[in-house]
Amino acid sequence: MSNWPELEHKYFMNTVKRLPVTLVRGQGARVWDEDGREYLDFVAGWGVNSLGHCHPVVVQAVTEQVNNLIQTSNQFYTIPQLRLAELLVQHSCLDKVFFGNSGAEANEGAIKLARRYGKHNLNGAYEVITMLDSFHGRTLAMVAASGQPKFQEPYSPLSAGFVNVEYNNIEAIKIATTSQTCAVMLEPVQGEGGVNLPDENYLTAVRAWCNQKGILLILDEIQTGVGRTGTLFAYEQYGIEPDIMTLAKGLASGVPIGAIMAKDRAAVFAPGEHGSTFGGNPLACAAGYATLRFIVDNKIAGNVAKVGQYFTAGLEKLGEKFSFISEVRGRGLLIAVEFNRDIAESVVMDCLNGGLLVNRLKPNALRFMPALIIGKDEVDEALGILDRVLSAVTDEKG
Ligand SMILES: Cc1ncc(COP(=O)(O)O)c(C=O)c1O
Repeated sequence: MSNWPELEHKYFMNTVKRLPVTLVRGQGARVWDEDGREYLDFVAGWGVNSLGHCHPVVVQAVTEQVNNLIQTSNQFYTIPQLRLAELLVQHSCLDKVFFGNSGAEANEGAIKLARRYGKHNLNGAYEVITMLDSFHGRTLAMVAASGQPKFQEPYSPLSAGFVNVEYNNIEAIKIATTSQTCAVMLEPVQGEGGVNLPDENYLTAVRAWCNQKGILLILDEIQTGVGRTGTLFAYEQYGIEPDIMTLAKGLASGVPIGAIMAKDRAAVFAPGEHGSTFGGNPLACAAGYATLRFIVDNKIAGNVAKVGQYFTAGLEKLGEKFSFISEVRGRGLLIAVEFNRDIAESVVMDCLNGGLLVNRLKPNALRFMPALIIGKDEVDEALGILDRVLSAVTDEKG
């Protein structure tokens, strides 16, 4: 067997601190390493494997497509792309779609679209108000959009045209709005920045402000979309509709894809103004269509809401048992557990050794984003491992 960490050290740029496991296989909510050890996967490729690993409908769709047509130029019509676009429009409040390959690419396109809208309708306004603690991707412009110094400082000077303001503070958005503002962009629930939930009425106030000023509301649903929070899109739970929405992550259950969606009035790109070589390729769109069709037909978002509540209740019970758990928060199957001290790294390692993959969200917090199809049995198993790990880490209440 090769020494994979040594190869990684030799050949890879040093951008990620990996866990000491080499995964070779996945099925449903489980993955296996090269030694055959099994893990329950509550990271799911960063909330990507919506239907779990290698779901039969995705495998079948990809296999059939790979045997027929993998990639064409976008000069031609391809059927999987059109079917996925139609399904997305039918099940959302948006009218038009553009496909790319990743979340950051989708957000870049959304900003370009908002700037085009600003040129057409707002006297050339180009600035976008985004939130502190947001995360919109790793490209240069998205680093400026993401209001987190740790992502921004290494790459200054930042791309112009973004103002970062406090999340859950409508006054901050109002103060930052000028005649140059063309849009407000936010995640309905902040994922990477801490699984931060919107205060009651915050999103409706943002929507009302955008309406009042005639500027666009862009929702980044890359992490929250496609069922993750218990409805197909998170905006459905907050009584608002975006003008532009971005998707990626779970849309094709693991095959790279991204999408910009827009209301008709905001879909102002003209031919040649935006594009992507691989964007919307038949392979990714076949996987996306199979995934979304399955999610819609089997009411998977409803399962997410139910299992998410069950999981949250179980985590809250652990919170009663372990005094160092300070908060459990989330929506659907996007959940964080916060500790009152910086133990997340060791908890992640102990969970790994116990057969459970979880994400260290912050030094003092974990994030859970398992496959949307998990059942109560798998949740019980994960809670059992966590209970054992937390019992060993530190003192119990009472
Ligand atoms: C809300 C949100 N937007 C954008 C991105 C960037 O997506 P990608 O890594 O596919 O570029 C992420 C990734 O974590 C995300 O959570």
